[in-house]
Amino acid sequence: MDDMMFRSDTVLSDVHLHTPSKRHFMVRLNAVGQPVFLSQFKLLLDKSNRNSGKEERDFRGENLRCQHKRGEVLSVDDSIEDEDSSSSIEKEGNCLKGIEALLDEDGDLEVVRKPQLPYTEDEDLSRDKVYPIILTKGGDILEEQEEEEDSCCDVIKIEHTMATSLEDVGKQVWRGAFLLADFILCKQDLFKDCTVLELGGGTGIVSVIVAKAAKTTYCTDIGEDLLDMCERNIALNKHLIEPAGNKVKVRVLDWLKDDFCTDPENSYSWSEKEIAELHDLTTVILAADVFYDDDLTDAFFKTLYRITSNLGNPCAVYLSIEKRFNFTLRHMDVVCEAYSHFRSTLNDLLNIRDGKTRYTIEPVQLSFPQHIVYERVEQLELWKITAERTTPPTPRGLE
Ligand SMILES: C[S@@+](CC[C@H](N)C(=O)[O-])C[C@H]1O[C@@H](n2cnc3c(N)ncnc32)[C@H](O)[C@@H]1O
Repeated sequence: MDDMMFRSDTVLSDVHLHTPSKRHFMVRLNAVGQPVFLSQFKLLLDKSNRNSGKEERDFRGENLRCQHKRGEVLSVDDSIEDEDSSSSIEKEGNCLKGIEALLDEDGDLEVVRKPQLPYTEDEDLSRDKVYPIILTKGGDILEEQEEEEDSCCDVIKIEHTMATSLEDVGKQVWRGAFLLADFILCKQDLFKDCTVLELGGGTGIVSVIVAKAAKTTYCTDIGEDLLDMCERNIALNKHLIEPAGNKVKVRVLDWLKDDFCTDPENSYSWSEKEIAELHDLTTVILAADVFYDDDLTDAFFKTLYRITSNLGNPCAVYLSIEKRFNFTLRHMDVVCEAYSHFRSTLNDLLNIRDGKTRYTIEPVQLSFPQHIVYERVEQLELWKITAERTTPPTPRGLE
């Protein structure tokens, strides 16, 4: 295998920065030879959010204790086998005591460092290269995972890559996805039985979460390899989606193109029926962390306008974004250009006077509780756009 190279355009999501666990390190190589990892994220759901008797385990505490199988923030325990509710509660109690013991008097986490071994002069200080080990290859992991007992409704499994180039960022999970997923978990009623369209869905994590409640979710993105990964993630999490009779359809939707792809050669293309149903039934559109390049932001809003102005129903659009600050020589200052462009393009919606659709925008307060462990940094924001038609849509085929 080639050395893993960090090029100037390599990006690594904070979500993947933690130490991998032994059990779920690297699971396969994808079609373009990138190492693929499997992470498991634990959701804290209250009883009203659960949908099968098996998963009726009692969780206590106001915050989620998440288990990121590769990189735990606060580990509950290292196995998620079925367990009865009493031992679950007991473990949670022990876990909380353990967490408290790690906090100093101000509540800051005290990191216990591994003691340094004394260095002897004849020791060789050069470090051997360590290559990741492929535990299983190809499709094996899917079958293996399907057989595992731990397919309970509070664990979401996501395959992803790490440290990608900018064009492959969708293969990582981004913090904005957690924020949006968190909001959805808190407001399940807003999504119940809806038809939802996710734009730039990446690994599919947000679509999986919304599909717990929504009847039909179209998870869209570009690139066959990414869409394959997304499709696998939907399959890995069918225990969260199918019990309620819901479904996720992975489809290609490129903001740089004016039309839906209906090419039968493309495995992720749309049927005419799906396009019609999307326009007739969609009431929610989602996008997490897709505003990092001004041209793409413009293309995104153009697509959003094209779709919302042809919908048969009013639509709520939820967009999460993380402000990323950079020092630029041009400004000789720390600026957040992608965010500024996002805000100005968002405001442009208010000025649209096409006589067809009216848009309103509002920030969503982030006061809802956390259901996934991630750092809800102050740079995270969630925006809601409401799109309402002022005239009935033109019958299809006459646009
Ligand atoms: C930073 S990632 C976010 C992925 C996912 N929403 C998340 O938060 O984990 C940005 C996403 O936008 C998608 N994207 C970029 N250009 C696109 C385009 N022209 N059309 C559709 N999606 C695009 C990428 O493939 C990627 O999945």
